[in-house]
Amino acid sequence: MNPTRHWLRLGAAVLAVASLAIAGCDDNPTEVIPGLTFAGMSACEECHATVVSQVEATGHPYKLVKVEDGTAPDLNGWDTPVPPSGYTWSDISYVIGGYNWKARFVDSNGYIITGSAVQYNIETDGWVGYHDTEAPGTKQYDCGTCHTTGWVDYAVGGKRQDDLPGMAGAFSEPGVRCEQCHGRGSRHVKTQSADDIRVDTHSSLCGECHTRDANHLIAASGGFIKHHEQYDEMLSGGHRGLDCVTCHDPHASSVDGASMGGIRVTCASCHADQSTTLNHMTIDCEYCHMPEASKSAVAENMYNGDIETHIFKINTAAVGKDAMWYDGGAKAYGFVTLDFACYGCHKDPNGIGGSGSAKTLSELSTRAMGIHTAPR
Ligand code: HEC
Ligand code: HEC
Ligand code: HEC
Ligand code: HEC
Ligand code: HEC
Ligand code: HEC
Ligand code: HEC
Ligand code: HEC
Repeated sequence: MNPTRHWLRLGAAVLAVASLAIAGCDDNPTEVIPGLTFAGMSACEECHATVVSQVEATGHPYKLVKVEDGTAPDLNGWDTPVPPSGYTWSDISYVIGGYNWKARFVDSNGYIITGSAVQYNIETDGWVGYHDTEAPGTKQYDCGTCHTTGWVDYAVGGKRQDDLPGMAGAFSEPGVRCEQCHGRGSRHVKTQSADDIRVDTHSSLCGECHTRDANHLIAASGGFIKHHEQYDEMLSGGHRGLDCVTCHDPHASSVDGASMGGIRVTCASCHADQSTTLNHMTIDCEYCHMPEASKSAVAENMYNGDIETHIFKINTAAVGKDAMWYDGGAKAYGFVTLDFACYGCHKDPNGIGGSGSAKTLSELSTRAMGIHTAPR
């Protein structure tokens, strides 16, 4: 867990946002629309320079970064990981991620590098395996629908990016850029008309990528929720009616909460009744309601993964996280248990968890019930 992120109070501005669906503009980036093409993020800069510089500070455009001239790519000031052992930058065509959690690497033929120490984890500054049993030079890069702008599968478009055999398709720009969310902008760039560009404020836009399951069940493994399931998680509870952009500025980063400008509203702006948590007055809501119950790269201990869950509901029963799973541990119910919610700060009777006082599940349960209302 990043110890500072939760102590930062959320910004108070609530932006009212209208939901518009515009007929006649690009609603499906992979469909061929005569006369419409991708203009590229640099074309937007002329008139939307502020938005471009904001978006450049988020993880989205760095999801996939091209390596040019055999030198380390620029991840907008974030530390760029070195290539895996046995490779130099000349052997790498693209870096996958490396912005927030972990990096994987694409070789000079377009294949994702596999092996026992080929994934770089930022938190530990260490290397772990990725598809260790598959020989290097065989795993196709087929991640483009969620990691690039304007991805078209080879089977549909007949093209491979940069003509590399390992690329399972081609894209207009690497990373998630303006036109992946707003549709092809070539006509808008000329007309400057709002009618020629898509503005979709629904969660389903974000849910095209922040999901793992078509039925929106919440996949889990190894005692944690899997990553990139924020949409699935949100649909499990009372926030299913909210848009992601009610809370998130789509153009700003949220990995460190409000400090990066990505969060627009306070929880208490909708939940005035819960604005105090008796005996935990100084603790931000996210600590208990958005614990790091999901894992992308590294878990600090059995209660702390590295992605904040978007399941907000806390189960107050005196049960541990085993009660969260069904289907043999492969799926999660729509609640978090008290060990995830509370052992980020408190520790269990074995000393595992945070640096606060030790509490049994039963002590936690007694306190959790009515925590916003019962005076102590
Ligand atoms: C030559 C200037 C210019 C360029 C280049 C340009 N835009 Fe715009 N854009 C505008 C103007 C002017 C508006 C306001 C239109 C209005 O409100 O009628 C606008 C509005 C928008 C809106 C809001 C539409 C709405 O419904 O409120 C979006 C989204 C947008 N642009 C995205 C883009 C993207 C993405 C690019 C790059 C592909 C881009 N623009 C390039 C001038 C430009
Ligand atoms: C992850 C999806 C996403 C990406 C990437 C994205 N936008 Fe947006 N954009 C939105 C959404 C959703 C809105 C609706 C308004 C809101 O919630 O702020 C929006 C609103 C806008 C608007 C109108 C309101 C405003 O903030 O001025 C403009 C202009 C715009 N985007 C331009 C861009 C440009 C230019 C880029 C690339 C540099 C870009 N957007 C990248 C999702 C995105
Ligand atoms: C359904 C969409 C989707 C697909 C398909 C997908 N990813 Fe991702 N990936 C995401 C999202 C969303 C995130 C960030 C949010 C999260 O992890 O919760 C992410 C995060 C990552 C990260 C961490 C990024 C960072 O900056 O730390 C890596 C590395 C990664 N994915 C690799 C891959 C690879 C390799 C593939 C293909 C084999 C792949 N992903 C396929 C959606 C997807
Ligand atoms: C835009 C308004 C809005 C904001 C902002 C908001 N919520 Fe909610 N929240 C709701 C609504 C609506 C519900 C469902 C109806 C209800 O229970 O009141 C809900 C329900 C909940 C629940 C009950 C569990 C569940 O799944 O129904 C919890 C816990 C919760 N919110 C926590 C939070 C936290 C923590 C934040 C800040 C990160 C937050 N909310 C921000 C509107 C909001
Ligand atoms: C085309 C796929 C795609 C879409 C659509 C998409 N995302 Fe993402 N998102 C990603 C990927 C991939 C990452 C991981 C990027 C990284 O950090 O390397 C990510 C990262 C993020 C992050 C964490 C990184 C940061 O800088 O804050 C947030 C927050 C986020 N997305 C919110 C949203 C919201 C809100 C929307 C809808 C307005 C949205 N995303 C739409 C794919 C997508
Ligand atoms: C110390 C941990 C903790 C903190 C901090 C915390 N909550 Fe809670 N919250 C809980 C627990 C535990 C419950 C379940 C209480 C129950 O069922 O009696 C809960 C319940 C809720 C509910 C559901 C209420 C209901 O009656 O269903 C909402 C909404 C909520 N919290 C919002 C917030 C907001 C907003 C904040 C920040 C201002 C916040 N919480 C801070 C632990 C916390
Ligand atoms: C009720 C408000 C709310 C809604 C709705 C919401 N988020 Fe978040 N999200 C947050 C907050 C608050 C944080 C940052 C927590 C922190 O760092 O303290 C966050 C963080 C994230 C992160 C970064 C996770 C990490 O561990 O760094 C991603 C990715 C994300 N949200 C995606 C989404 C997507 C996609 C949606 C819609 C499906 C969504 N969020 C809906 C409040 C919300
Ligand atoms: C952000 C850190 C943090 C989180 C998360 C947290 N606590 Fe605490 N808690 C504290 C601190 C600090 C104290 C006072 C010193 C101590 O006892 O460690 C405290 C005290 C307590 C106490 C003893 C005082 C009292 O109020 O009775 C109980 C019981 C307790 N917490 C229960 C919980 C429960 C239940 C949860 C999860 C729903 C939780 N805490 C989550 C920080 C936290």
